[in-house]
Amino acid sequence: MHAHNPYLPEVATVQEIIRETHNICTLRVVLNDPEKMKNFQFIPGQVGQLSVFGVGESTFVINSPPTRMDFLQFSVMRVGEVTQRIHLLNGGDQVGVRAPLGNGFPLEDLKGRDILFVGGGIGMAPLRTLLLFMLDNRQDYGDITVIYGARSPLDLCYSYEFQEWRSGGANLVLTVDAEHPQWQERVGFVPTILREESPSPHNRVALVCGPPIMIKFVLFGLKELGFEDDQIISTLEKRMKCGVGICGRCNMGSKYVCLDGPVFTCTQLREMVPEL
Ligand SMILES: Cc1cc2nc3c(=O)[nH]c(=O)nc-3n(C[C@H](O)[C@H](O)[C@H](O)COP(=O)(O)OP(=O)(O)OC[C@H]3O[C@@H](n4cnc5c(N)ncnc54)[C@H](O)[C@@H]3O)c2cc1C
Ligand code: FES
Repeated sequence: MHAHNPYLPEVATVQEIIRETHNICTLRVVLNDPEKMKNFQFIPGQVGQLSVFGVGESTFVINSPPTRMDFLQFSVMRVGEVTQRIHLLNGGDQVGVRAPLGNGFPLEDLKGRDILFVGGGIGMAPLRTLLLFMLDNRQDYGDITVIYGARSPLDLCYSYEFQEWRSGGANLVLTVDAEHPQWQERVGFVPTILREESPSPHNRVALVCGPPIMIKFVLFGLKELGFEDDQIISTLEKRMKCGVGICGRCNMGSKYVCLDGPVFTCTQLREMVPEL
């Protein structure tokens, strides 16, 4: 879609905004060019640069799956200038979209495997894309277990579709850090719940995304359960600018996160981030 000038965004219209939590909103956008929207193709895990005109652009994962192309969805946590302005957008507003960028999840390698998603907070965004894609192709996968946690029930994204995930065939284990009135599900940090659930590593791939401290302890937990590094996949958040391998902003060792990532196996991550 950016064959001529990779820096030029497609103009898109905000169709809907969902307030997920106090600092995360989800944007559903449609490219203004109907042909480009119709022909838009991507792999779960790929990202886009979303721009607010006159303010700037930032990187977000496309978190609607390619099996549901009524709109492209991005969930945005408010942390700084661009994300603050994104939170002020309304339905009908125009934004810029440069996408798809990056590699995406290795779909062929995941076919026929049992799957474990481990997500924390906004880290559920890339996992949601792949989860919905898998639920839409349920016959291609074995057991699908999802462990998703956040600080409190009010910090969980996508709570309005948990029922759909369950009825679609996912074993969904929800947890929050501390007891909360009316909370009927699990209480405890994600790595603790992972140990309690103890999913078998046999023929299974674990997909992990969340805050760095959660990832660190989840990786310990997965090792204890017997997962090999090649059975663990994560996405790396390294600041990007061009998104197309030109500026060097996202460079890590011999890799460019915008081209070689953001999806990496744990084996690849350990080569790039030795302290992991
Ligand atoms: C591959 C990839 C996928 C991403 N997917 C999502 C997503 O789906 N949803 C989402 O909410 N965010 C996602 N992010 C992070 C998002 O790009 C940043 O939060 C955003 O660029 C911040 O822009 P800003 O102008 O609001 O913040 P700024 O004003 O630029 O920065 C505000 C503060 O946040 C810090 N910061 C900004 N970006 C990052 C970053 N990438 N890593 C660490 N610290 C950062 C800055 O150092 C500063 O302290 C992703 C990032 C990458 C690289
Ligand atoms: S963001 Fe420019 S090289 Fe990756």
